[in-house]
Amino acid sequence: MEETFRKDLTHLSWDEVYARQMKRAPLVGEWMDSLQLKAGDQVLEIGAGPGYVSLVLADRVGAGGGVYAVDRSPEALAHLERLQKERGISHIHRLVADAATLEPAGLPVGSALITMVLHHAEDPAGILDNVARLLLPGALVVVAEFHPEGPGDGPGPPQAHRLRPEQVQAWGKGAGFLVRSFHRQTPEHYMVLFQLDV
Ligand SMILES: C[S@@+](CC[C@H](N)C(=O)[O-])C[C@H]1O[C@@H](n2cnc3c(N)ncnc32)[C@H](O)[C@@H]1O
Repeated sequence: MEETFRKDLTHLSWDEVYARQMKRAPLVGEWMDSLQLKAGDQVLEIGAGPGYVSLVLADRVGAGGGVYAVDRSPEALAHLERLQKERGISHIHRLVADAATLEPAGLPVGSALITMVLHHAEDPAGILDNVARLLLPGALVVVAEFHPEGPGDGPGPPQAHRLRPEQVQAWGKGAGFLVRSFHRQTPEHYMVLFQLDV
């Protein structure tokens, strides 16, 4: 468990955040399967950070689909932009914005990920409220977080900064989502699958 934790991640470089994202690679396939993501789909990633998950999503949806990568940090998305250029990937659309206030114009998507983000946010309930405005009726959303009773034996926030799954589900319900499933992917990580009520 890390000694220092700052919600804005200023204690780490974006290369270090990317390395931590890669360590969570085994979780990503289940997130995409739960969203039923396939070639040609459009998907929203809230809090994309330096972009590891966005790149995996881009591979899944293919050049005929699209990934909207939202982050409040321009530096994080500059890291993603550099990787996109190196790899010749143009179907990731980066948006520097606060997810709690991002306007829905041009974002009619049927699925979204909010993974390892809410414990960094000042207004996590506000993010879920706003994401509900950005999505099509019936849209699926994966929220993943660190479990407060996880072992804390890897990179991740101290237990005191972790969000209880009951709290995350209550925020989602308050935003108009139904809880489709909840489980621990590992002792350290859990995911909630929400669906926007139709
Ligand atoms: C640890 S990274 C998670 C990256 C990725 N989602 C993953 O699963 O690996 C958390 C990111 O959430 C972003 N973030 C936190 N609050 C946000 C907000 N209100 N709006 C947009 N981005 C936010 C941070 O800037 C940071 O890049």
